[in-house]
Amino acid sequence: MGAKLALEVRQVSKTYRERGKPGVKAVDSISFGVGQNEVVGLLGPNGAGKTTIIKCILGLMRPDSGEILVFGEDVEAHYPRILQKMSAVLEGSRNLYWRLTVWENVRFFSGLSGISSRENQEYFRYLIRLFSLKDKQDVEVRKLSQGMKQKTSVVCALARRTPLIFLDEPTLGLDVETSLELRHVLRQLAQEEQRTIVVSSHDMDVIQDICQRVIILSSGQVIVNDKVSHLMQLFGTKAYRISLVGNLPRELEETLTTHFSSLSVATNDIGVEIRINLSEPHEIYLLMDTLRDAGAIIDEISHEDVDLEKVFLEVVRRERNGHATGYSL
Ligand SMILES: Nc1ncnc2c1ncn2[C@@H]1O[C@H](COP(=O)(O)OP(=O)(O)OP(=O)(O)O)[C@@H](O)[C@H]1O
Ligand SMILES: [Mg+2]
Repeated sequence: MGAKLALEVRQVSKTYRERGKPGVKAVDSISFGVGQNEVVGLLGPNGAGKTTIIKCILGLMRPDSGEILVFGEDVEAHYPRILQKMSAVLEGSRNLYWRLTVWENVRFFSGLSGISSRENQEYFRYLIRLFSLKDKQDVEVRKLSQGMKQKTSVVCALARRTPLIFLDEPTLGLDVETSLELRHVLRQLAQEEQRTIVVSSHDMDVIQDICQRVIILSSGQVIVNDKVSHLMQLFGTKAYRISLVGNLPRELEETLTTHFSSLSVATNDIGVEIRINLSEPHEIYLLMDTLRDAGAIIDEISHEDVDLEKVFLEVVRRERNGHATGYSL
């Protein structure tokens, strides 16, 4: 038998119910696993169910059905002891005591999970240095900037030394430099300390930078669960940019947009630029035939540089248009 997964979510559903109103099915029979030492991105549009599933995993909320295992143990059956194995920074919530200093917060939260501050002083100092908070370590958290508060929350979560960490929007409100710093630190921690990290973010650069795999949710369901490198390869070979000389006749534009839903057209000084994400590689023939039949003159064809943001937008768009799997292999 292989090593236990760090996390296993099995057919979990959660509906928010309010008296007199129709319920909101936030999580709809979700299943996924996260291997030990993996760094996984949890993505999805607003309201997709990311925070809800994280709260269910942390036992902050009870799912209506399904099972959640952390290092092979059922969260509900082993609650609250199982909390020793996971820590989290949740979106928009106060993860800190504002009247305590940075150092006191770190001691307090690590103490909650039985981490002795005497034995771990060096480690705490290391984390504080890593996040450039040394100058602020004796300052009350309420007197810190938003980004510094956010970094302190992450330090407190990491200081608990749990093998599994959830970061819900960790770079929200961070400046560009600090966001880069945080990514660097997370990569380093994953490599050096073999932590398992699940990170949700709308910042695709962050996800692309630190995650090996992404799970994309939409309307409470998993629509993609794949390696970042595989997704890039898949979409990279099917995204094209085609420049045409002159104008694009109206009829041709209509034919193209009927056949290819992902097609977009931009007109510039020289001519027309078509961008397209093909569903299947062989569709390029249909595209070329359509252009030739209409007498269009191709100036240049190039592969579009693909990044995770384009992949994400395309996958979500296709899912909304009724494609069940989001992408085809
Ligand atoms: N406490 C709540 N009571 C009622 N409905 C809720 C509650 N929390 C979330 N929801 C609803 O559940 C759905 C999923 O919300 P959730 O916060 O899990 O989404 P999310 O993926 O984290 O979105 P975001 O990217 O905006 O953070 C939404 O439709 C939301 O309105
Ligand atoms: Mg959320």
